[in-house]
Order: sequence, then C-alpha cells, then structure tokens
Amino acid sequence: MVKGVVLHGGLGTRLRPLTHTGPKQLIRVAGKPVSQWVLEDLRDAGVREVAVILGTLSPLRVVEYYGDGGWLGLDITYIYQGYPYGLAHAVYLAKDYVGDEPFVVYLGDNILAGGIRRYVERFLESDADAMVLLAEVEDPRRFGVARFDESGRLVGFVEKPRVPPSRYALVGVYMFRPPHIFRAIEGLRPSWRGELEITDALQRLIDWGLRVEYAVVRGWWKDTGTPRDILDANRLLLDERLRERRVLGRVEPGAVVEGRVVVEEGAVVEAGAVVRGPAYICSGAVIGSGSYVGPYTSIGRGSRLERVEIENSVVMDDVVLRDAGRIVDSLVGAGAAVEASEAVPRGHRLVVGERAVVALERGGAR
Ligand code: G1P
Repeated sequence: MVKGVVLHGGLGTRLRPLTHTGPKQLIRVAGKPVSQWVLEDLRDAGVREVAVILGTLSPLRVVEYYGDGGWLGLDITYIYQGYPYGLAHAVYLAKDYVGDEPFVVYLGDNILAGGIRRYVERFLESDADAMVLLAEVEDPRRFGVARFDESGRLVGFVEKPRVPPSRYALVGVYMFRPPHIFRAIEGLRPSWRGELEITDALQRLIDWGLRVEYAVVRGWWKDTGTPRDILDANRLLLDERLRERRVLGRVEPGAVVEGRVVVEEGAVVEAGAVVRGPAYICSGAVIGSGSYVGPYTSIGRGSRLERVEIENSVVMDDVVLRDAGRIVDSLVGAGAAVEASEAVPRGHRLVVGERAVVALERGGAR
C-alpha cells in the first residue's frame, strides 16, 4: 500500500511575523489549514497511512489539530525532526515507517489545483524509482529547477539556481520506491544553505542511471511561502474548490449573504452585515452589523468584525477588526486586533502578526 509523508517543519521565515508562534502549514486558507488540503489530497489519491514530520515550531499544535487522523479518513503517525536539516533529512526520518512500500512526499505548504490522484496512479502503474512533478513558472530561481539535454531528456536538477537551466520548477510532491532514495540521501553533503536537499538526492538517482520520471502539472500550483502566495492560494481555492453555497450558521433577518459562501455552524452574520462570495466564514466568527465581507475573503474561527469592510483577505482565528475602515489584500494573524477610535482613511493593505494590536489613526503626525 502506498504511504504518505507530509513535511510539516521549516521556520516560515518569509511569513514572519505570522509564523512566530505557529507552523505556517496551519494557516487557514479557504476554511482549512494548508496542510489539511495536502492531507486530503493524499487521501483522495488512495493513501491511508501518513507520517507527518514535525519541526521545532509548536509541533504540538499540529498533533492537537490532526490527532490520529481518523476524522480525515487517515491513519497519522508523527515523527519529530527537530532541527531543520533540510527536506532530504526529513524524508530520511521516514525510512523505517515506509519500509518497502512506495511513498509520496508532499510538502505541507504546497497546494495544487486538481489534487495529485492522477500522478500517484501513474507512478504506481510504472516501475520508476522516482517521479517528480514540474510546473512551468515565471521565475524559477526560488525553486529546484529541472535540467534537460538537447533531446529533451531529463538529466538533472539544480536547487535555487542563479541562472535557471529551464523554466520547470520542482513542485513539492515527490514519489519514490525504496530503497535507492535512502541510499542517495545517505551520501549527501549539506548545500550552501546548510541543508540536505532532496533536489541533490534526485540528481544522484539520475546519475546512478535509475528511472526518474516526471509529469508537468496542469492548472495552478502554489508554494505558500509568502503573504502574497497565501492570498493567491486563498483566492484560487475559493474559486475552484468552493463549489457550492453552504450556510449552516445563523444569518439574521436583514443580513445579506450572496453567492458562493460558506457560513460554518456556530458562525453569525448579524442584521445589517453583507457577505458577498466567494467567501468562507469559519465557526464562531461574528460578522457584525455594518460590516462588509467581499469576494475572496476567509474569516477564521472566533473572529469578530464590527463596522469594517474587507475584501480579498485572509483573517486568521480570534481576530478583532473594529471600525478599521476598508481593508484589502491583507493577511491578519491569529489573535490580532485592528481598531480605530475615529474615522480613518479608506483602504489599508496589511500584514498583521499574531496577537498584534494595530490602532489606526487619521494621517499626519500629532
Ligand atoms: C523546496 C525545494 C525546492 C522546491 C520547493 C517547492 O524549497 O527545496 O526544490 O521547488 O520546495 O515548494 P524550499 O521551500 O525549501 O525553499
């Protein structure tokens, strides 16, 4: 039976201050943590047993959230990585767990448009030693990049090259058949960033003449490493995976809820509030009177909006937004408060860290 290995570590440095107190993979987009989309993709591809590799950043929050995985139809085992020595190091920790079974490594911060089922099926039907997914991107320099020879044959990979040998980036989904990959990792030296790179291990498999296949992903792919990526992923998921309107929470008479909107059980849209989809309101959230939640917005659990307009934004759990004017293209960390005591200029773009308190005032020094 094919197994899954989800990497849930890393320091999330590019997402600070949103990741000071928790793993980036638990940031909720379109109603679910990024890594939940990942785990559901694995389940939908026929995987039942998954090892989640935990990093140093609040690993217990991950265990608390997913538990034994039963509620997702999965059997989850946790492996603690400790210091982040790189993706290849994390994969190596799953050596005993996977045993002789083929396995899928899925980075817990990656999201793909159509899931991974077709690729996993193709890999299992083949007898390849490894299969990777590639996506054509504008700027490959922030990824691992594939190298092809003149005849178009895949001949290698380079991690974050200054001069990319192609426009095809390694997507964070890798499939392997033991045992070669583990042998390849054993011989690795740390890269310039001090990590054992899975990209270098793949290069070794190719150098040894083993079969490394690839598929080019159709549709979008997001590595949610930056605030911009999180907003993009939220918009794309709300567009593609939020197929229908589901209003289980309380919508008071006099409130307007329009279009593809999810209002989870326990959420309230008060009289005089407007929610225009696609949008996702998590349980316990209150959209207060005089508030407007516009398209491509997700509001986290227990968050409260009072007299604000917000659009194309992700608001995490237990946030308070009060009299804050109009907020667009923004990311607000868990437990943060954005408030104003008087009328403020319209239109803010914010990235607000966890538990931050932002007091907005009219412009000009006073
Ligand atoms: C990692 C891999 C890189 C791959 C990327 C996909 O990069 O090293 O090869 O293209 O994930 O998300 P990192 O997120 O560690 O910078």
